[in-house]
Amino acid sequence: MSDAILEVRELSVEYLTRGEPAQAVADVSLELAAGEFLGVVGESGCGKSTLLFAIAQLLSPPAEISRGEVVFKGQNMVQMTEKQLRSVRWKDYSVVMQSAMNALNPVKSIAAQFADAMRAHGTRAKADITKRSREVLELVGIDPVHLSSFPHQLSGGMRQRAMIAMALLFSPELILMDEPTSALDVVAQRSLMVQIKELQRELGFAIVFVTHDMSLVSHFSDRLVVMYAGQVAELGPTREVFDAPMHPYTVGLLEAFPSIYGPRVHLDGIPGSPPDLAALPSGCRFHPRCARCAPACSTTVPELYAVAGREVRCLLYSAGRKGAAAVPGAAGARERAVDDETRSDA
Ligand SMILES: Nc1ncnc2c1ncn2[C@@H]1O[C@H](COP(=O)(O)OP(=O)(O)O)[C@@H](O)[C@H]1O
Ligand SMILES: [Mg+2]
Repeated sequence: MSDAILEVRELSVEYLTRGEPAQAVADVSLELAAGEFLGVVGESGCGKSTLLFAIAQLLSPPAEISRGEVVFKGQNMVQMTEKQLRSVRWKDYSVVMQSAMNALNPVKSIAAQFADAMRAHGTRAKADITKRSREVLELVGIDPVHLSSFPHQLSGGMRQRAMIAMALLFSPELILMDEPTSALDVVAQRSLMVQIKELQRELGFAIVFVTHDMSLVSHFSDRLVVMYAGQVAELGPTREVFDAPMHPYTVGLLEAFPSIYGPRVHLDGIPGSPPDLAALPSGCRFHPRCARCAPACSTTVPELYAVAGREVRCLLYSAGRKGAAAVPGAAGARERAVDDETRSDA
């Protein structure tokens, strides 16, 4: 893809703790085109944040990139020095964290934090700083009077918006977002998602958006990466993945989150929980929890198979078993989910 602004190539990240190193990101490859919205989904503990931080070059010990490249605008960032990275980070790409309460400095006003960020990148004139700070706040729908507010004086939704405003200060081409809406209630989540999408349309930046809630990105992302135990389980256009999930893990995730609109009910989409990275199952990492597990799944490690414009790491789709690829589509899965939802409402 020639217009890719981000290419992640065979990226692996290990946490070097006592005993065996735990591989939290295992051989992940993906591409992002300019202006594209890529969703990264999976249960908690699947390596989504680690992947995002590895892309942002923000990992710190005990985490370490053990292999692979992160090529952003033609340059491998894994090999950049901290000084080189500082000139790119915030200017060409920025990061929005899960909790603005942690990411923002509680004892500084929004204006002071924006000013610090701008001065760090060479904007010195006070008038320029004020002008740009007002502009970005207005972009996210916050009245510029709040420049003098401190983070605790803003609501949760406003703080997240202020974080996004800060990420927009230099009009980056890429924004990496780690569950930026997860601290908010469902209504605020939804409105922030709509706003992020509008900003993207208006300003044209690309997004990598990490969330454990697959339904959250269903209407917003162009493509979806489903992660399981550090690996890509499935990757493809969002609509197609929702309409006809291929990997049994994706099918389970869809059943676990039936709808963004209805009441949140637990549907037991997938029994059990993700594996301990230091003691991974043999064969397919998902096989102990898989509804479609076959004997080969505990002995054979599945590759990422290319099927109909998608990538899927499941033996059902290995070349020799193409005939077996008739996983029930999402239509079925979603009908079942809706039934269940109605039943638990009653
Ligand atoms: N500081 C750490 N030290 C050791 N292991 C870690 C650390 N942070 C995360 N991990 C491990 O890496 C895995 C992936 O974590 P994370 O990237 O936070 O997942 P997600 O964002 O999908 O919830 C987890 O299983 C966790 O055990
Ligand atoms: Mg996370």
